Amino acid sequence: MVGYAFMGAAHSQAWRTVNRVYDLPARARMALICGRDTGKVAEAADRLGWEAYTTDWRDLIARDDIDVVDVCTPGDSHAEIALAALAAGKHVLCEKPLANTVSEARAMAAAAATAQAAGVRSMCGFNYRRVPAVTMMRQMVADGRLGVIRHVRATYLQDWIVDPQFPLVWRLQKDKAGSGALGDIGAHIIDLTQYVTGQLITGVSAVTETFVKERPLPAGSSGLAATLDGDGHRPATGPVTVDDAAVFVARLDGGALATYEASRFATGRKNALRVEINGSLGSVVFDLERLNELEFYDATRPAAEQGFSRILVTEGEHPYMSAWWPPGHIIGYEHSFTHQMRDFIEAVATGVDPAPSFADALQVQLVLDAVSRSAELGSSWTDVEPALATVAA
Ligand SMILES: NC(=O)c1ccc[n+]([C@@H]2O[C@H](COP(=O)([O-])OP(=O)(O)OC[C@H]3O[C@@H](n4cnc5c(N)ncnc54)[C@H](O)[C@@H]3O)[C@@H](O)[C@H]2O)c1
Repeated sequence: MVGYAFMGAAHSQAWRTVNRVYDLPARARMALICGRDTGKVAEAADRLGWEAYTTDWRDLIARDDIDVVDVCTPGDSHAEIALAALAAGKHVLCEKPLANTVSEARAMAAAAATAQAAGVRSMCGFNYRRVPAVTMMRQMVADGRLGVIRHVRATYLQDWIVDPQFPLVWRLQKDKAGSGALGDIGAHIIDLTQYVTGQLITGVSAVTETFVKERPLPAGSSGLAATLDGDGHRPATGPVTVDDAAVFVARLDGGALATYEASRFATGRKNALRVEINGSLGSVVFDLERLNELEFYDATRPAAEQGFSRILVTEGEHPYMSAWWPPGHIIGYEHSFTHQMRDFIEAVATGVDPAPSFADALQVQLVLDAVSRSAELGSSWTDVEPALATVAA
């Protein structure tokens, strides 16, 4: 694994847990973790359960006994690490968004396609697909329970940078993060809604905004937290080079109209991901703050009995749930990562391609790119480039 902070901890928890919960054809051995600071990565290795640590990610690539490289760094290093790992025949799990630019994502998808021919697998970490209620939503759509999909309504709202004095962490710098709320949390709802509906976004009209354009430089930071210098001084500021919020409308290739809102300025909303889908036969709603539940409106029921009902997605027959607890004994955020590792290990061990593939993640990147270009062009309608053509090219 490369990176030991937020996602490093979430993925480590999942690697530690997955073989103790699921019966899988292979076992994960947590061999080597990489970070840039010797003291901190040594502490992280001990705390998170890794056998050894290094400060150079190339050490992971060089070791013959390492089969999988898990990339948990900011987007500016995804392409370099993933390309080197694939070229060395390592299976790669890479955090989202796949890369910081379309050209990097294209190179990664092309490398993944080449590696695939040699049995080397790759996957992007859109973990929310693996919340059981989300996986079930997809099954309901695929089973025709919603009929023809007309509307998709997706919001992913946070508020961690509402304070203009919050420092300029890497997530607010384009060269490190690629984009702001758009690529960080917007990417999740793009992937989630396309996954659930089975429809791809074909075009968008967007607005983006950077509400606070200058911020204090941090003395030290990780992804979502920072400290000021020792005296509490805030001497220097720097420009925020990403969007604080992105709002866009979209058309899906199955005919649905969709709206998306991704913001870090939604005061009071901490990590509020909500998706509603309206079809000709019913509607379904997912809310991450109630992640064990789905709201379902079945318009085929007798008129007198119609109404939104709450499904508690904790039965053994629900996706991923048979290995956990008795019905009604709820699960949480971290379980989506365990499910991700389960599917990744199973795919690698049985020789099939896990999803979302790098090509799928490239397609998300192309949507992000279309949103950015539309916003720059005063919200003009912007088609999303087809991903398959770009992989082949
Ligand atoms: N799936 C999700 O829900 C989710 C949530 C948060 C973040 N992410 C993604 O995960 C990735 C990491 O985000 P985070 O929140 O964990 O960030 P973070 O700042 O908490 O951690 C980043 C880690 O990468 C390390 N790092 C940075 N550059 C490195 C390099 N060149 N070599 C070795 N280590 C390096 C840092 O030292 C740190 O340990 C990003 O791509 C982000 O978009 C995904």
